[in-house]
Amino acid sequence: QTLHSRTLEAVAEHIKSGRVKNVVVMTGAGISTSAGIPDFRSPETGLYANLARLNLPYAEAVFDISFFKENPEPFYTLAHELYPGKYRPTIAHSFIRLLNDKGILLKLFTQNIDCLEREAGVPDDKIVEAHGSFARQSCIECRQAYPEDDIKQHIAAKSIPRCHDCNGLVKPEIVFFGEQLPAAFFASRDLPRDADLCIVMGTSLTVQPFASLPEMTRKTTPRVLINKERVGSLGSGTDDVLILGDCDDGVRKLATACGWHDELESLWAK
Ligand code: OAD
Repeated sequence: QTLHSRTLEAVAEHIKSGRVKNVVVMTGAGISTSAGIPDFRSPETGLYANLARLNLPYAEAVFDISFFKENPEPFYTLAHELYPGKYRPTIAHSFIRLLNDKGILLKLFTQNIDCLEREAGVPDDKIVEAHGSFARQSCIECRQAYPEDDIKQHIAAKSIPRCHDCNGLVKPEIVFFGEQLPAAFFASRDLPRDADLCIVMGTSLTVQPFASLPEMTRKTTPRVLINKERVGSLGSGTDDVLILGDCDDGVRKLATACGWHDELESLWAK
């Protein structure tokens, strides 16, 4: 056993001991809900529970590549709501930034497409956007890149952008069901093996292959889950620590136990 007990305090002791040098963080939509962005699977508030108005055959169709080719409208209706720019990072995002400022962030794996981790100041080279993001867009037929200003206009107008070259459908480079994850994901997916601490926050761990990342850590690596509910195999390892509840509360408690309370609050207030 690496931790003396499976508690938040023991994790903080471990961090303060200086033995933690490579933290791997894995996140999902739950770290952005307090910013005002709905997650996917929460029963009442999640996106998938609120898509009835889009007349989809099934909720996940909105992010399905075959469905998109037939009917891109539902996705663009949603993109109008989700497009980055109107949301502010949460304190959970700032906590990841703080780990980086402390020099102990090895990698952040995120499933989120809201770009809030970058906005919180986590450097680009530390972020693996496993499901892509709204940062780039291209034609799904000829792969030609499409200008950002043009897609912004279309999304604002709720109209559907088409390739200037071949008239194919244009799609932000978000990974849809039926599409391959970015090369950066596969290039980094072994990194959790080098981690001496793993933090999983705000994800239901239901979508593969991302959901298997916490399994890539060594048996002796403590894994911390900061989430409303228990997910995946978290909790079953000898050094797994469950911090169940709101993730903003969880990171505040952990930062306070590490002696970082003021630093975290001032990073977030910026
Ligand atoms: P989900 O909606 O599946 O899971 C969000 C998790 O965060 C759930 O376990 C919630 O209980 C928890 N949660 C929500 N708000 C929270 C809060 N304030 N504090 C703590 N926990 C909270 O979202 P993801 O796991 O990110 O893929 O979903 C994975 C993928 O499924 C997404 O990337 C998306 C979706 O289909 C694509 O769009 C390709």
